Amino acid sequence: MNTYGDMFRVTVFGESHGKAVGAVVDGCPANLPLSEEDIQKELNRRRPGQSIFSTPRKEEDKVEILSGIFEGKTTGTPICSIVYNKNMRPKDYSKIKDTPRPGHADLTYRLKYKNYDYRGGGRASGRVTIGHVIGGAIAKKLLSYTYNIKIIGYTIKIGKIEGDFNYYKNPEVFENEKSLERLMEIIESNPLRCPSMNEKEMEEYVLNAMKNKDSVGGVVEIVALNVPVGVGNPIFNKLNGELARGLMSINAVKGVEIGVGFKAAEMYGSEMNDEMYFDEDKNVRFKTNNCGGILGGISCGTPIVLRIAVKPTPSIGKKQRTINLKTLENVEIEIEGRHDPVIVPRIVPVAESMVAITLADLMIKGGFIHPCSL
Ligand SMILES: Cc1cc2nc3c(=O)[nH]c(=O)nc-3n(C[C@H](O)[C@H](O)[C@H](O)COP(=O)(O)O)c2cc1C
Repeated sequence: MNTYGDMFRVTVFGESHGKAVGAVVDGCPANLPLSEEDIQKELNRRRPGQSIFSTPRKEEDKVEILSGIFEGKTTGTPICSIVYNKNMRPKDYSKIKDTPRPGHADLTYRLKYKNYDYRGGGRASGRVTIGHVIGGAIAKKLLSYTYNIKIIGYTIKIGKIEGDFNYYKNPEVFENEKSLERLMEIIESNPLRCPSMNEKEMEEYVLNAMKNKDSVGGVVEIVALNVPVGVGNPIFNKLNGELARGLMSINAVKGVEIGVGFKAAEMYGSEMNDEMYFDEDKNVRFKTNNCGGILGGISCGTPIVLRIAVKPTPSIGKKQRTINLKTLENVEIEIEGRHDPVIVPRIVPVAESMVAITLADLMIKGGFIHPCSL
């Protein structure tokens, strides 16, 4: 269960404090120009230690491609990419060896497998999402090369602080190349990856939680542009279902919304329905995009709009009650080690990656992209 996708298949491997993490991507068509740099630039966005809002673990996360590329292009064979772990401090975790952290996966992994690499959360660590981002970088390259598809993620909420920027408040930003580039610059230059004007208020909110040895969650929005009409299936394997599955496969994601999402439940039909019209060239257009680019499980040509709810980081310094599986006592723990006080900004490239992998897989299966060679 470490492989995602049917035809564009991403297998992720490795543990937080093992030798290495990475991914094998099988099913990427031949003749896609691809370099380590394409993957590295996405990994740099996920890398820890870039702001006070991320774990201080210092990792370069330098990627090496071991196979699948010849003369700068994919060959249609498995692309194996590896990132060696460098900055491990397994000692930090000796205290949680027998005392599972509330909110983490320590207990379930241990009960299910009975041999759990607890160091840094092992396989349940956020570090494993390096594999997701490697797969996503290759999928993004494939989607932009074939259909100029762009996938942009950003923070819209931290804890209870709602931002003033989101797709529905600013749809015009996504309509032109220049404003889109500017948006991406703003997102990447900001420690919370939040393009809202009240972003400083969000920073204060996180800093306050950090002072109390606590953590916070938030909401990330992801928009996919230029997805052609017809991607997805009408009954099972709907585009919305597949995207939700991909996004819910990311650690710490607790909910997915498509389009206006849960707000749809409060709207009248006359407010929710996206009215259609023909433009001058008789292309089908929509007055609004409340459906988030998907009708009946199939893409309708408007931007695909998704949102994920990200929970607060489970590892916190605050005293918590748990159990000791060795002594069978009820105990208290104060978690040490290096942790993200908020996962939200680092999950942005991971969420974009799962959207890209899902689209690449569906577009190969649906005949939009040739499965063997470009
Ligand atoms: C990018 C990323 C970074 C994460 N960093 C941490 C962390 O520093 N400390 C921690 O306790 N959990 C962290 N997590 C969350 C845990 O991996 C996750 O909560 C845990 O495996 C339990 O899974 P669940 O929350 O999906 O139930 C991170 C997750 C992601 C995606």
